[in-house]
Amino acid sequence: MPHVLKSNTAIVTGAASGIGAAIAEAYAAEGADLVLADLDRDGAERTAARAREFGVRASAVQVDLTDAKATEKLVAEAETTLGHIDILVNSAGMLTEVPLIEMPVRTWDEMIAADLRSVFLCCRWTAPRMVRRGTGRIINIASQLGIKGGEGLVHYSAAKAGVIGLTKALARELAPSGVLVNAIAPGPIETPLVDGISADWKQAKQAELPLGRFGVPAEIAPSAVLLAGNPSGNLYVGQVLGPNSGDVMP
Ligand SMILES: NC(=O)c1ccc[n+]([C@@H]2O[C@H](COP(=O)([O-])OP(=O)(O)OC[C@H]3O[C@@H](n4cnc5c(N)ncnc54)[C@H](O)[C@@H]3O)[C@@H](O)[C@H]2O)c1
Repeated sequence: MPHVLKSNTAIVTGAASGIGAAIAEAYAAEGADLVLADLDRDGAERTAARAREFGVRASAVQVDLTDAKATEKLVAEAETTLGHIDILVNSAGMLTEVPLIEMPVRTWDEMIAADLRSVFLCCRWTAPRMVRRGTGRIINIASQLGIKGGEGLVHYSAAKAGVIGLTKALARELAPSGVLVNAIAPGPIETPLVDGISADWKQAKQAELPLGRFGVPAEIAPSAVLLAGNPSGNLYVGQVLGPNSGDVMP
């Protein structure tokens, strides 16, 4: 079986951990050269080292993706390193749990910056380069909570609903230029992101899932390969894939 992403290049954000790390490894296994961006330099470097074992080029960049100038620099340098950018995966994000009636305004602002502004910024600097080349794939990691909402997660749900809206609007803008934009909205996945969520929530959540269990990052990565691949991803435009244990059925 040929490597479906051979000769492709990708920026993967949030690649130090969890879903971003799993996508980076899956892309490396499929032959893509990578720039891996994260706040966590050591974690990103560990993922890059695992990626290089597949024989691809992979480098790690420490960056705060809420910072407009730093993100612009990341994308410009990634283009230099990789030669061009075929694929952008926006997986960086964070999660906190606070009821709205107790939520500090700063907590709201931090969430919107980390989980929505970062996606806008990475798209903002990458999309023009893809449009110039007349080809590209952007894959945004949203969440099923952006569709159904979650208690104590008003800020997270709003940010992820924003990612879904951004994905659909940008998909309409860019499809005529050959750039395909889609989202993946996972259900609960076992990563450090959900470590901070209460045990009660996790137990109740697991019980209500038709599949009866959370997913693992390696079960999300194949959706990102599908959306990036040619021809597997060619007809997906503004779609929201739902590997979510049956939590949301559109
Ligand atoms: N784990 C889940 O249950 C779940 C479910 C649905 C959606 N998601 C989404 O999947 C994505 C990945 O989450 P994960 O579960 O792999 O979490 P994770 O905590 O394992 O990984 C997230 C990574 O993003 C990085 N990051 C956060 N803010 C950043 C910033 N400002 N700049 C640069 N890097 C930053 C972190 O350092 C971390 O390495 C997130 O967008 C998350 O919202 C996760």
